[in-house]
Amino acid sequence: MSTITLPRPDDWHLHLRDGAMLEGVAPETARDFARAIIMPNLVPPVVRGDDAAAYRERILKALPEGSDFEPLMTLYLTEKTDPQDVAQAAASGLVKAVKLYPAGATTNSDSGVRDFDKVRGVLEKMAEIGLPLCVHGEVTRPEVDIFDREAVFIETVLDPIRRKTPGLRVVMEHITTKDGVDYVAAQGDDMGGTITTHHLIINRNHILVGGIKPHYYCLPVAKRETHRLALVEAATSGNPHFFLGTDSAPHVDAAKETACGCAGCFTATHTMPLLAHVFEAAGALDNLEGFASRNGPNFYRLPVNEGTLTLEKTDQPNTWPAKIETGAGPVTLFDPGFPVHWHVKR
Ligand code: NCD
Ligand code: ZN
Repeated sequence: MSTITLPRPDDWHLHLRDGAMLEGVAPETARDFARAIIMPNLVPPVVRGDDAAAYRERILKALPEGSDFEPLMTLYLTEKTDPQDVAQAAASGLVKAVKLYPAGATTNSDSGVRDFDKVRGVLEKMAEIGLPLCVHGEVTRPEVDIFDREAVFIETVLDPIRRKTPGLRVVMEHITTKDGVDYVAAQGDDMGGTITTHHLIINRNHILVGGIKPHYYCLPVAKRETHRLALVEAATSGNPHFFLGTDSAPHVDAAKETACGCAGCFTATHTMPLLAHVFEAAGALDNLEGFASRNGPNFYRLPVNEGTLTLEKTDQPNTWPAKIETGAGPVTLFDPGFPVHWHVKR
C-alpha cells in the first residue's frame, strides 16, 4: 500500500450554485478541501461586494456542522462594475478575485463583458491593489470554431489586456490547450493557470465517440489528445504557474441529458483520488502537493493550509455513487472510465 500526505488542498475554481443545489454540493467540496474560489455566475450574478457577502453567508449555512471550509468570494465583472466597490470588497478581505466572462461564453454569462474598454477602470484599480483577475479564456465570436476559442482568446484578448494593464495579476482558468499551457508558462509570476480534474482525464473523443456523452460536455470543451497530454505534463511538472481549479460545475441530470444540455462536469466528490491516479501514472506523485496545495495559495498570496490530507492506494478500487441526490435533483458524478485505487483516508 502506498500513501501520500499533503497540506490540505484548495480548489481555485468551483461552482457551488445556490438554494437546494448549494446545500447538496457544498458538503462534497468541504469534505476534502479547506478553501475554494467560488464562481459568481449565479442568476442574477454576484456583482457587488454586498452580493458576495450575502452569498458567502448562504454558503456557510449550507456547510455541515463543524466544517471549517472557507469560501473565497469573487465578483462577476460587468461593464457597469464600480472600481471603488471592488476595491472596498477586496480591502475588507471578503473578495479574493474578480471573474471575467466574455459575454455568452458559458453557463449564465449573459452579463459578461462585450467591450473591454468599458472595464478599463476596474482592471487598472485591480492592478494597483494586486487583486487577481480570473478569466474564462474563450472568445465567443460565431465565426471562431469552438475548438479554437481558447487559442484565439489568448492572442486577441488576454495578451492585449495584460499589455495594456501592467501589473494586473491574471489567472487563466481551466486551460484546455497546449497553447494555454505554453502561454502561461512563458509569463512571470503575475500569471497563473488552473487546470481541472476532468481535462487531465478526457479528450474530445470521450464526448463524441460511440454516442454523445452529455456528462463529459463542459466549457471550455475538451480538446484533442495532444492537448490533454500537454495539460498532464504542465500539472504534474511541478511548475508553480499551474494549480488545481476543479471547475466542478453541477447541473441536475435533466439539464444535462436533453436536446440542449448544459456544460459542466461534477468532480467535487472524488477529485483528490482521481488526481492521485493521474499524478502516479505520470510518475509525479510528489508534485501533487504543489499542484493541489501550494501553488494556488502562493499565487493568491495566502498561507498554505495547516491541516493535512492523506491519500492511500489499496488493491480494491474505490467506488462512488453514480450520482448524488440534491434537493434540486440528481447530479451525476464525472466517470473517469478506469478503476481508481486511491482513497482519502478519513
Ligand atoms: C460552468 C457552469 O456550469 O457554471 N460550466 C462549465 O462547463 N465549466 C461555467 C464555466 O465555468 O464555464
Ligand atoms: Zn467554471
